Parts: sequence; structure tokens; C-alpha cells
Amino acid sequence: MKLRVLVVLLLFLSGVWILSCQSKSKLEQNSSWSGEMQSMAKEVYDLLPFVYSPAKFKQNENHEEIAKKIEALEKTIHQLPEKTGEQMLGEDHIVGFTLKNLKDDVERSLVIFNEGNKEYARTVLRNSLNYCFRCHTRTNYGPEFKRWGFDVNKMAISPTSKARLLVVTRQYEAAQKTLEDYLTTKTGFYNKPFEQENALDYYLSLMVRVQQNPTQAMAVFKQVKDNPNIPVYLKESVAYWMKSLKSWMAEKKKVISFTEAKKLIKKARSISQWQSLDSANVEYLRASSMIHDLLIKEKDPKNRAEMFMYLGDSYDVLSKNGYWELPELYYESCIKENPGRNSISRKCFLGYERNILLGYSGSIGVLVPAVEKEKLLKLKKLAGLAQ
Ligand code: HEC
Repeated sequence: MKLRVLVVLLLFLSGVWILSCQSKSKLEQNSSWSGEMQSMAKEVYDLLPFVYSPAKFKQNENHEEIAKKIEALEKTIHQLPEKTGEQMLGEDHIVGFTLKNLKDDVERSLVIFNEGNKEYARTVLRNSLNYCFRCHTRTNYGPEFKRWGFDVNKMAISPTSKARLLVVTRQYEAAQKTLEDYLTTKTGFYNKPFEQENALDYYLSLMVRVQQNPTQAMAVFKQVKDNPNIPVYLKESVAYWMKSLKSWMAEKKKVISFTEAKKLIKKARSISQWQSLDSANVEYLRASSMIHDLLIKEKDPKNRAEMFMYLGDSYDVLSKNGYWELPELYYESCIKENPGRNSISRKCFLGYERNILLGYSGSIGVLVPAVEKEKLLKLKKLAGLAQ
């Protein structure tokens, strides 16, 4: 089994609101998607008091109620019109991928729950919500959701978990406020550095991709830098991000194009060549969000393959923010989109191979399961690299 740290993600991005120019039938389809999303959120909401309480989740007298609620969630996920998702968001493989994984994980959690391994079932269920994030944060396409009468502040969970739940249900402003309150509060010396790091990563993603508000992010980061008790390595990252935000603010006009995205990736590579890995996160977040947007319309397989390659590269760097699995997904998509021997498919295969082999390597060497080896060989052939 491949093990990756389960840090949760939040990530969002720029987007064009194209609903207004869609035909009536598309509008109807979209509204069925919205309706199912709302039902899904309702089922998640019903489950939250259990999902975040190991004791309640374990109690035998709650068994039937919890099983019913998980089944209800599973049912709403199955009702989601997947094709509509693809029509709305473009042929971006993240749509099918997140939906499939969400379905699989919720189903799996029910099986595990009924088998009696309740703590594990709870973890699987809680982590399955990451897929809601991944899709919601891929782009800021779609509305902010304000009608949800649920107050996460009443729950005894960490600020980043609160922000995560708010993003799951698309309450972006509330998520922003939760993170800002936490980040601008004076803390004790080395007080929960992991939580601080997560909060900073989430906040950056939220502000760069969804809110697209570098000015506000600058103001908050300034306060973070002035906090004497924040780890020095985190302050360093914040200082790099502030530099990038500043140059973003100085840009005259907002252009969303592949040329622009490639420029940002080039800049990101030159920044992170000499500095810490996350020093170019602003550039990577901006570039990848632009590319997700462009994929909605792009039809040329060569361009699409190249776009997938850049998404793979970006998520390789951003994976700590919760994007594990996405680099491989995009490298694979890149090879399949424009197969045969060419410089792009070669780079994508290198990225795929490296991630898989590193993912499976341990102290006793590389132990790659047979199915993964088969897949590697298939992709190697597709990329024209097998002898
Ligand atoms: C495959 C991508 C994807 C996944 C996975 C996903 N969402 Fe969504 N969701 C969307 C998109 C796109 C929209 C905006 C659609 C629109 O309204 O135009 C949306 C909208 C919503 C809305 C607002 C509905 C409205 O328009 O009023 C809620 C609430 C929501 N999602 C909850 C969830 C929850 C909870 C989960 C996980 C259990 C989840 N979503 C998983 C893509 C996704």
C-alpha cells in the first residue's frame, strides 16, 4: 500500500462564470447537479456530529442510525449526474476521479463500519470529504453557498478542520474568516506548529485561487510575520509568498491564457530552484488554477497533454497541501492524451515513474506491486519509451 501523509487540502481557483450563456437544457442539468450537491451536503451535515466524535461513532446504540446515514450519503452520491459535471467543468480528469473515489470511500466506510472496525470506518469517512474539497477548490466555478444553517464554530475541532468543512460546503467567506482569526491571534512559543503550517497552506490556497485577493492576504501575512512565536521556517515561506503576492498586485491586467500560465511556471521553477520547495506556491497555485480554467474549452490533444504535464508538475510541488495522487493522475492523463514518442509524453512518464517508485520505496528497497508494474509498462509503451 502506498502511504502518503493525509493532510487535508483546500484549493481553489480562478474561473469564468459561464452559466449565463448556457442553453436552457444545460441550465436544467446544472440545477439538478446543484440539487444533488445540496442533498449531499445535507447528508454530510447529518453525519458530522458522529464523524467528529469517536465515542458517539463507536456506541452500539448509534449503529443503526449511523449506518442509515452513511447509506443515505452513498445514495445521493450515486444520483449525481456525472456527465453534467464533465459538461460544466470540461474534460478534466479530476471530475471523474474525485467522484469515483468519493463513491468508493463512502461505500468502503460502510462495509468497514458493519464489520465492526469503527474507528477505521470513521477515518475513511472523514477523509472522503477531501474529495469534496478537491473538486470545489479546483476552480471557483459555481456559487458561494450561504443557506446552510450549520455552525461549525460550535464543534470542538481545530480551526483548519473548521475551515475544511466550510469549504466542503462552499462557505468560502466563513472559511476565510476562521483562518484569519486563527492566524492573527498571538500564540505561545512553538504552539501547534503543524496546525499553523496547515492553516497557512489552506489560507494561501483560498486567497489565491478562490478569493483571488492578494491585498488581503498580504495584510494577514504581515501580522503572521510580526508574531514572534511562529517558527522561523514558516516565516521564511510567508516572506516568499509576500514577494510573489506583491508582484501579482503590480500586474496591470488580468490575463488568463496558456502563455501566461507557462510564464508563471517558469518563474516558479526559477524561484524554487534555490529556495525551499514551497517558496513558489503562489505561482504554482495561480498557474494550475489558470490551466484548470483553460481545460474547460481546450480541445487540441497536444495542448491538453502539455497542460496536464504542467498540472502534474504543479501538484507535485503542492501535494503537501492535500494534492497527493493528483500528480500521477495528470502525468497519466498527459501520456494518454497524446501518446507516442514525444518530448511531453517523455517528461510525463518520467514524472509518473518517479512518483510511483518513490511512493513505494521503503527501508527494504522498492517493492512495487505487480499491478503497478503492469501499469508502468503500459504507460512506458504508450509514451514510446519501451524497447
Ligand atoms: C466532481 C466535483 C465535485 C465533487 C466531488 C463535489 N462537488 Fe459540490 N459542487 C461542485 C460544483 C462544480 C458545484 C457548483 C455547481 C453549480 O452550482 O453551478 C458544487 C456545488 C456544491 C454546493 C452548492 C450547491 C448550490 O448550487 O446551491 C454544495 C452545498 C456542495 N457542492 C456540496 C458538496 C459536498 C458536501 C461534497 C462531498 C460530499 C461535494 N460537494 C463534492 C463540484 C463537486
